[in-house]
Amino acid sequence: VNPVPTSVHCKAEAKRRSRQEAWSQQLPAILPSLLLCDFGQLDREVERLEEAGAKGLHLDVMDGHFVPNLTYGLPIVEAIRRRTQLQLDVHLMISRPEQLASRFVEAGADLVTFHIEATEHPPELLEQLRRLGVLAGLAINPNTPLDALLPHLPLCDLVLVMSVQAGFGGQAFEPVALDRLTQLRRHGRSDLKLEVDGGVNLDTIHSCAAAGADLLVVGSAIFRHADYSAAIGQLKSRLTGG
Ligand code: DX5
Ligand code: ZN
Repeated sequence: VNPVPTSVHCKAEAKRRSRQEAWSQQLPAILPSLLLCDFGQLDREVERLEEAGAKGLHLDVMDGHFVPNLTYGLPIVEAIRRRTQLQLDVHLMISRPEQLASRFVEAGADLVTFHIEATEHPPELLEQLRRLGVLAGLAINPNTPLDALLPHLPLCDLVLVMSVQAGFGGQAFEPVALDRLTQLRRHGRSDLKLEVDGGVNLDTIHSCAAAGADLLVVGSAIFRHADYSAAIGQLKSRLTGG
């Protein structure tokens, strides 16, 4: 196998470091999830979220196969990339993520998570994403045993702990996610980032942060409000225990 020239490695590592830096400057961070937003005026929605102080965007890509819902793919990620400098966190809820993950990096993802339930060989894809210079993470549904994920932690920049079964916004928070965040915070590397996703709102966000979550994905608790700034502001104050 022809070794990748070190210059390519260095470039990818430099890109990863600048992305790690971009994320870590603002933790814990609330990430609006683009699933329940108004896709009829995506440009305006992204602008409103930037004005509301969002530090990144969580893009929910669903294929109608791994999850029983179908959302959007590469053209929308490319369009959002052209529109904002915010960090893009792409959550792949798709089967065989190894077939498309690199295309999402080309489309503009800064961080890519894929489901441990969707691929036979997580390490290969985690390594491929790292070589492409993005941050790489494994996502795990509430009823998948956490043990399945532990062997792969050394290759993860981040773990996405689902607090709902992947597939839909507006579901109720599953408290098992708090135990998992605590467990991962205890067993994971100190630089392992933890993300929680699903049912995060004014009632649950503080316990998520207290359990160790660095990135808090919020969908309906933002998009059901007319004023995104007010919604994010209230969530932020709950985050710090206000
Ligand atoms: C569910 C998605 C979540 C969801 C969050 O499969 O991964 O990002 O959109 O929406 P809420 O916050 O409404 O649960
Ligand atoms: Zn998500």
